[in-house]
Amino acid sequence: MKYFIGNWKMFGIPGSIKIVDRINKFLNKDKKNNKKYKVIIAPPHTLLQDFSQKFKDKKISISAQNCFYKDHFGAHTGSVSAFMIKRLGINHIIIGHSENRASGENDVILKEKIFTALKNNLNIIFCIGENKIQKRKKLTTKVLKKQITKVLKRNYNLKKIIIAYEPIWSIGTGKVPKTNELKKTVIILKKFLKLNFRTKHNFQILYGGSVDNKSIHNFKLIKELDGFLIGGASKSSKKFIDIIRNFYK
Ligand code: 13P
Repeated sequence: MKYFIGNWKMFGIPGSIKIVDRINKFLNKDKKNNKKYKVIIAPPHTLLQDFSQKFKDKKISISAQNCFYKDHFGAHTGSVSAFMIKRLGINHIIIGHSENRASGENDVILKEKIFTALKNNLNIIFCIGENKIQKRKKLTTKVLKKQITKVLKRNYNLKKIIIAYEPIWSIGTGKVPKTNELKKTVIILKKFLKLNFRTKHNFQILYGGSVDNKSIHNFKLIKELDGFLIGGASKSSKKFIDIIRNFYK
């Protein structure tokens, strides 16, 4: 099963539901391939209730983009808890996106976020990724392993966690890793996850960063990848659908 997950970031108003609607219609029509993949769209908090109700029991699923690090309710102005998200009927959440890390989320906070999300039975899309300098210094796998071990714990329900590898230098830049380099990184990560967590569970790893209808032609050559986390191109139903179409072409 491959994942195509759209991260809308700070985008969307109630009328943007038509984008999700068009994607969902495509999924229903795509009889040839639609059993092979799962589509999830992550709109901002403001749209979660509306979208999750509208697409309840539909092929497409709705995910949250983030949550507060603790509590069900509390004196945390402007925050939304994993509990509140789950109560909307939502089953997925993105945690650890580099844009959130850049605005102050550290490993300690992320550990708590994962803990509270798991406690509320959410499936987690956990983002990791190296920056340009780390890549230049050939520290990529070291950085990724550290981001994993500092946050994920052996006693967590690891089956509820999907890893999204998003090199920071690739997000929104049109720059993508070389196919063989990305393949190597994914293989290293999969091996490491099994060893480190002493588990037989096959972790799923997604790639994110400038995925579009063109770059997907290269990414689809990497059979070890379990799917994609898509930013910019997920804000247009046509662009998003073209990614899926080209993947199965
Ligand atoms: P882009 O697809 O716009 O590069 O964004 C990737 C991303 O950050 C998804 O979470």
